[in-house]
Amino acid sequence: MIPRLMPKVTSKTNEPPRAVYPGSFDPVTNGHLDIIRRAAAHYPRLIVAVVANPNKKPLLTLQQRVDLLRDVCSGLRGIEVDCFDGLLVNYVRARGASLIIKGLRIVSDFEYEFSMALLNRHLPGGVDTMFLPASLEYAHISSSSVREVFSLGGDISEFVPPAVLRAMKRLQSSRAGSSKKSVKKSVGGKTV
Ligand code: PNS
Repeated sequence: MIPRLMPKVTSKTNEPPRAVYPGSFDPVTNGHLDIIRRAAAHYPRLIVAVVANPNKKPLLTLQQRVDLLRDVCSGLRGIEVDCFDGLLVNYVRARGASLIIKGLRIVSDFEYEFSMALLNRHLPGGVDTMFLPASLEYAHISSSSVREVFSLGGDISEFVPPAVLRAMKRLQSSRAGSSKKSVKKSVGGKTV
């Protein structure tokens, strides 16, 4: 008999099974979007959960990252964009989900993600992780490389959805505006 890959619909609530795709999404890339699309094709309800990053200093605010994800996922069925802080397993359980989805791009991702998957399974209320390999055309894209290329004036239009590119450009010009002001202010210690 062929084992069923899709979990059964929860009998008590009749709700479709839910999986959580967590990340920083700073910013969401075409690689993330590819994982979202492919995971959603297998899971009827996918929660894309943006971590509030208490330990990192993200480029985009939590609200900006959530808004961009909502924008780029707006045409996809069964996707909910949410945010969380604290332990991922607690969030997954609180949302009635039963699986964590992660994308794997390169071999070095695996070492880290594998230990995170073991940890998330070992913690009380442990949750399993399912990995999706990145599509080849996206395997070189990461949020950190997008941020770096962009900050150095490179073209990121192939790496991110158009809405993200527009948001990054807006952010850049608002930062350029405010840094000009602060340079002006510091000339000779006087406000000029
Ligand atoms: O996109 P990222 O930065 O690789 O995502 C990392 C994320 C959000 C999956 C990870 O930082 C996370 O799970 N944070 C929640 C805190 C937590 O549960 N930590 C212990 C297990 S990783």
